Amino acid sequence: MNDNHKYLLPTYPDRGINIIRGEGVYLYDVNGKKYIDFGSNYGVSILGYGNKVILSALKSQIEKLINLHGSLGNPVRDQAARKLVNMCGKYYSQVYFCNSGTEAIEAALKFTKLTKRGNHIIAMQHSYHGKTLGALSVTAGEKYREPFTPLIWDVSFADFGTIENLKNSIKKDTIAIIIEPVQGEGGINPSPKGFLKAVRKLCDQNNLLLIIDEIQAGLGRTGSFLVSQNDGISADILCLGKGLAGGIPIGATVVSKNVAAHVPVHIHTSTFGGNPLAMSGILATLEFLSDKKIYRHIQETGDYFLKELKKIRHPKIIDARGVGLMIALELRENATWLLKSLQDKNIIAIPAGSNVVRFLPPYLITEKEIDVLIYALKEIFVK
Ligand SMILES: Cc1ncc(COP(=O)(O)O)c(C=O)c1O
Repeated sequence: MNDNHKYLLPTYPDRGINIIRGEGVYLYDVNGKKYIDFGSNYGVSILGYGNKVILSALKSQIEKLINLHGSLGNPVRDQAARKLVNMCGKYYSQVYFCNSGTEAIEAALKFTKLTKRGNHIIAMQHSYHGKTLGALSVTAGEKYREPFTPLIWDVSFADFGTIENLKNSIKKDTIAIIIEPVQGEGGINPSPKGFLKAVRKLCDQNNLLLIIDEIQAGLGRTGSFLVSQNDGISADILCLGKGLAGGIPIGATVVSKNVAAHVPVHIHTSTFGGNPLAMSGILATLEFLSDKKIYRHIQETGDYFLKELKKIRHPKIIDARGVGLMIALELRENATWLLKSLQDKNIIAIPAGSNVVRFLPPYLITEKEIDVLIYALKEIFVK
């Protein structure tokens, strides 16, 4: 292990580089080496690094007020909440702000328990919703779960994409279905056409709440503001996070009127939730996401990226897939060597499970940087 990190508990794998600066779609290490960032910090840096509008909003808010407890009102928080709820669609009525994706899921699960009587939740195989205990209970990965069992509630994992299997998983005390519209950590698995609509219908028929986790796939990543919106459905509880606040830690749990009516005062709060700094980041980010041009760019660049990636054929490659700028290359073997080879060629990509290389570039990425990546992959696979 690198000696510089010796006081850090090594819960993260060490990629062996020290990054100190970012600009546009590039990251720079301590030696001035420049990397193209195809990971955007696991989907956080959606507008890249050093965006002038985001920086200016954050700087100006830092000078006014960084933190303010939720019991004290703040106009920036009110504006961020109004704008976010309105952009999510008319089915939603209010939002609870916290500081990470996993916290947004914790809130979603607690609000579900407050709304419905019962103990059984259906999640999907290969799901990822975070690592705090509630979120972990609905996360499928056995290696994350095993040391902490028994986890909480009664959770079944249904086949992602098969409505019959989901139907058969419903029990007398089932209260909700939780789903990522495009699975991220599970290997970049888009839901089959019509599946989300069918899940919504199943929830309505069986009086279940639908929790949609768009923490990774939402906010433009797939070429629309929300995947669920694009599929013509709404959740009862929608979870967002990652790049929502311009890089400041954030989680958001957006709820319908029905759910909101069951959440009393005091029951769920967080000291930093709704802090003005994060709220100013949300307002600035949503300004960018209000411009339709960004979605066209994501769709066009994503289509080009996937088309070029699919052209790379090699016995070690099983599949290239994805939607928008959420793209994966699946190998027949563990993919750590490929991540390392790319890093040696000044390209940062991230894993999704053990054998998938995931690409979640900032939305500013262009064909020029994609060509550099494709060229590097060709070199790696041809050699
Ligand atoms: C779909 C999804 N849900 C929840 C989370 C957890 O978010 P966080 O790491 O901010 O706690 C993630 C993180 O990658 C995610 O991709």
